[in-house]
Amino acid sequence: MDATARAHDDRVVLTWPDGRSDELPHVWLRDNCVCAECRDPDAWERRLDTVTLPEGLVPARVAVDDGLVVDWPDGHRTVLSASWLAAHAPGRTAPEPTEATGVPWDAAIAEQPPEIAHEELADDAHLLRWLRLIRDYGFALVRDVPTDAKAVVGLAERVAFVQETNFGHTFEVVSKPDPENLAYTAHRLYAHTDIPNRHSAVNLQLLHCLENSAEGGESILVDGFEAARRLEQQDPEAYELLRTVWVPWRFQDETTDIANRFPVIGTDDRGRLLEIRFNTAILAPLDLEPDLLVRYYDALRAFGRIVRDPDLEYRFRMAPGDCQVFDNQRVLHARGAFDPSSGHRHLQGCYVDKDDFRGRLRALERDGADFRTR
Ligand SMILES: [Fe+2]
Repeated sequence: MDATARAHDDRVVLTWPDGRSDELPHVWLRDNCVCAECRDPDAWERRLDTVTLPEGLVPARVAVDDGLVVDWPDGHRTVLSASWLAAHAPGRTAPEPTEATGVPWDAAIAEQPPEIAHEELADDAHLLRWLRLIRDYGFALVRDVPTDAKAVVGLAERVAFVQETNFGHTFEVVSKPDPENLAYTAHRLYAHTDIPNRHSAVNLQLLHCLENSAEGGESILVDGFEAARRLEQQDPEAYELLRTVWVPWRFQDETTDIANRFPVIGTDDRGRLLEIRFNTAILAPLDLEPDLLVRYYDALRAFGRIVRDPDLEYRFRMAPGDCQVFDNQRVLHARGAFDPSSGHRHLQGCYVDKDDFRGRLRALERDGADFRTR
């Protein structure tokens, strides 16, 4: 390894040939020892006990050889490779490959929507291409999926496995008597995300068209992150309300009652968009303090106007064999009313949990490299 290392105070300063340097606290170096004693070579989980690491630990010797070599006073030796250090040194951790690079889009995406042919997905390289499209655009269409019942399950299992919910392992989007939710009617559905009432809001939603001969029932997708950015520009106060006020979501039927509070716009510790929860059909009665409540309705209206703006709507008609696959925590979906007396409209859907989708993407991104070296 080509670098120089010196211990200084509570850290090792590692200087690379290009002049860049990394500061590696001693406690961090000891904690990340990758020897078989400190990290299980098979499970690749830490065996060393982080919380009982001694305070004020200082190495006996630091050297650069085939990696950074640190000898500890008790005789233990830690060796970390240049590539591992480049990937993990504090303050320069590479962005997660699954972090949404978030290509924003609007109605113009109709000219060239992200899509892939079903038969291509037999190949892992194309599978990765498809999952990256979903990561970047929040959706991708799959064309020519066989119109067999449960073909959507095969597609979900190409990613990981189906996340079962109170709506079942799969669900049938058809107009039917006594519907348990509005999707199972012929009514228009405004742009929404599914099941925001669940703590673990599902990430991937797959909707596979088996039949679509009814008049109407046009599909609509909207980039919820782009909508949130527009709201932030146009009405910062509304954006802050939707971001910071946690509101009650609830779905109930004869056998279940799933309720949780979450904000409409979820952000991470750096204020970056994480998720959108927007489905007024299952927004429980708002219980905010009255002045706040009135302002909150204004904020909901402002966001609703943006997500229903035709400038943001990607509109399309599903044909049998089409499957829309979207990130339900970013992309809102809608459909036009249809006339059930004019023909049949039947979509079969299922969900995949976000961790399983992102986990599969991350594993494919490794491109065969041994995860133990990363
Ligand atoms: Fe839905």
